[in-house]
Amino acid sequence: MHYTLDYTPILPSTNTRAMELARAGAPSHTLVVADYQTQGRGRRGRTWHSPQGGAWFSLLLRPQIPPTQGLTLLAALAAREACETVAGIKSGIKWPNDIMWQGKKLGGILLELAIEGNILNWAVLGVGININQQAFPPELRETAISLQQTTPDAVIQAFCDAFDKRWPAFLSEGIPGLMPEYIAYSVTLGRRVEIITDQRLEGVAERLGPQGELLLRLDTGELQSIWAGDVSCRYTKDQ
Ligand code: BTN
Repeated sequence: MHYTLDYTPILPSTNTRAMELARAGAPSHTLVVADYQTQGRGRRGRTWHSPQGGAWFSLLLRPQIPPTQGLTLLAALAAREACETVAGIKSGIKWPNDIMWQGKKLGGILLELAIEGNILNWAVLGVGININQQAFPPELRETAISLQQTTPDAVIQAFCDAFDKRWPAFLSEGIPGLMPEYIAYSVTLGRRVEIITDQRLEGVAERLGPQGELLLRLDTGELQSIWAGDVSCRYTKDQ
């Protein structure tokens, strides 16, 4: 796949830049890369700590498919494989798309979609992978981790290769085609989790539904659908 590189040393956010380029008509597979971000954004309105040295990039896509959360699952698989390729580590995926290593967060994905009716106009997949971070800010020290001895270029190249490998099958098969690999690397499925949205839910993360939603088996026996974007999972203390 041909990628159009858009590199700027310092950006507020590669996702914001990719969205601007999308609105200006940039082609699919435009890859926005920055050395560091001054206003990196995470899911659920959080800020994303993005100092020099990490891999901070956003991929603009214009696939002819209905709007789907499958893109974040696909990106999580590609990001996980990229970390294994460049650093030889076995990381996992915490639903929906946190890259986890040694119980800590190595990277994350922020999907932003422009939808008109039931048509996906464009999608921006933002990926952040921590690399060679010597000191995290206090609020991240217990929960974040970083790859060592690799470079952003190597991670981004490995991500693109891993993404390309899965893209044709994803376009033809959608989420079901991703499932076996996603299940194999999930650190959430089959476990007891606590989910915090506007309410707090606890249960067993049983499987994913057809749209990539998490199906949580509550203690009442009821199966509850949890959608991406408005949850955070924590392992309960006895895990
Ligand atoms: C999360 O886990 O909350 C998602 C983090 C996504 C961070 C990446 S870094 C590159 C891109 N630009 C942003 O502003 N955010 C994403």
